[in-house]
Amino acid sequence: MCGIVAYIGHREAFDIVVKGLKRLEYRGYDSAGVALMNGDLRIYKSQGKVSDLEAISEGKDKSGSTGMGHTRWATHGAPNNENAHPHLSQSGDISIIHNGIIENYVTLKEGLIQRGHSFISDTDTEVLVHLIEDIMEHSKLSFVDAVRSALKQVVGAYAIVILSKNHPEHLIAARKGSPLVVGIGEERGEYFFASDATPIVEYTKKVIYLKDNEIAIVENQEMIIKNIENVVQAPYIQELELNLEQLEKGGYPHFMLKEIYEQPKSIFDSFRGRFNSATSEFHMRSIEEYGDKLKDIKRLILLGCGTSWHAGLVAEYLFEDFARLPVEVEYASEFRYRNPVLYSDDLVLAISQSGETADTLAAMDLAKRKSATVFGVCNVVGSSIPRLSDAGAYTHAGPEIGVASTKAFTSQVTVLTLLALGIARLRGTMNIKAIASVMRELEQIPEKVEKALKLNDEIIVLSEKYKNAQNFLFLGRGYNFPVALEGALKLKEISYIHAEGYPAAEMKHGPIALIDENMPVVVVATNSEHYEKVVSNIQEVKARKGIVIALVTEGNTSLNDLVDHVLEVPETIEYLSPLVNTIPLQLLSYHIAVMRDCNVDQPRNLAKSVTVE
Ligand code: AGP
Repeated sequence: MCGIVAYIGHREAFDIVVKGLKRLEYRGYDSAGVALMNGDLRIYKSQGKVSDLEAISEGKDKSGSTGMGHTRWATHGAPNNENAHPHLSQSGDISIIHNGIIENYVTLKEGLIQRGHSFISDTDTEVLVHLIEDIMEHSKLSFVDAVRSALKQVVGAYAIVILSKNHPEHLIAARKGSPLVVGIGEERGEYFFASDATPIVEYTKKVIYLKDNEIAIVENQEMIIKNIENVVQAPYIQELELNLEQLEKGGYPHFMLKEIYEQPKSIFDSFRGRFNSATSEFHMRSIEEYGDKLKDIKRLILLGCGTSWHAGLVAEYLFEDFARLPVEVEYASEFRYRNPVLYSDDLVLAISQSGETADTLAAMDLAKRKSATVFGVCNVVGSSIPRLSDAGAYTHAGPEIGVASTKAFTSQVTVLTLLALGIARLRGTMNIKAIASVMRELEQIPEKVEKALKLNDEIIVLSEKYKNAQNFLFLGRGYNFPVALEGALKLKEISYIHAEGYPAAEMKHGPIALIDENMPVVVVATNSEHYEKVVSNIQEVKARKGIVIALVTEGNTSLNDLVDHVLEVPETIEYLSPLVNTIPLQLLSYHIAVMRDCNVDQPRNLAKSVTVE
């Protein structure tokens, strides 16, 4: 997701726009740009942070009481100067900034090229501003009507602001599927536009949240709002109540909680457009381009650190079950210092949210030097790990600001599930119906995660009860052994309570000595082939007066008399159960940490990306 800011009024626009872009930095950025107008139209843009944009603007003409700016979170297309917004029309007279995806941009672009247009970037946004100008030239429509006509041809989502050198008295903004807020300035003719209210709130509390298919038109200091059919809309002006910090977190008290609640969407975004459950076809470039290689690989080596390593452990079960591949899951920090035996028919797959983890990068480099094919699954477009990878897939989870990884984990598992299914299809190790069945269940997961999030209130009660425990044990079997590890990591890294994750069966080989009436034991006991054995493990804990918090499949009341607390999670197939079962464990660690007054988003001693050894 990108961030857009615009201003028109009596003040100098540059400082307002740049300060606003900094307010939107939590949305992520890999390039930034501004357009300024006072008679002429000047554009400054650069790869990197908003501070880099300020640096390149130094000493240049930054005058103008009309302006707009953009921070780009690349979802496709490298983060570089050419792809940075704002973009210009063929003549350079019209400029646009855009947040969203124009799905039919290739078709539109082909038509424009046939009509003599040439393009500088490979973005969908540049196509839209060329289309607007093309319509004005060929249809003699007004600037505003040409924008409306162009938007009616767009398939996809947009929040846009458009300026024209030939119409300096105009500023046009529109939205469909991406948020756009209008701030009503104190002075006549003063308006602010932004992806959310954070860049606006310090200037005015009066805002209008544009609705889908609405267009805001500022002309000669007056603003009207029309719908895409040119019908004037009665704007609903609201008074902002949240303060700036709350606004950046979308109203949540912490980024981590916001990101936990984003998971229905982030999981959907991780698989959107990548498969067709009706035909069980895949649309993943790494599978298409490396199909022959993937058919012949003899072994898969998964590399990662921390939570990403846990995602690899889930993937081990998936690739074994679906693609019948031997799998090794390696701590990247260990792998990089070994002298591993690798072959050219090995596939090494690095998993990383940040794409900058030093140990993972070094392990990848070692694998490449030993002639293995190296893939990457990463969340940050254009980061080092994708650049070092031969191929791979982005998780599209959106920026993850909280140091404790939550939505990145479930997005990693989602993408790894798709890769495992795709390779299974290539290798013929899974029949088409079985693949389609998993795909159809995966399509249900966002809704099931939404339902699992409703455990929040029950988990707050549990957190209050156990927030002062000195130790926790997390147990799981099979696909949910990595879930136990992830639950333990979440708790220890943000609440500073010592917690260990273990395969449930492994408890009797030592950890059972730790069990007493002060030890909460979280057991993932959802429906699976191991369920009865997990129940036996629960009985072993209870026999030693341990406290058991059991995750069970909704409707299963058979453990209610045996355990101390039951959390019922939506049922899904075992392959996909980590996506649902992890949710209550994230909420448990979050609430306990908050109750212990820990710094949830920036836990002590930790960094979001460990770029050092
Ligand atoms: C997870 O909550 C931690 N923040 C940490 O273990 C993290 O997963 C690890 O440092 C790997 O980071 P990466 O995914 O960016 O490579």
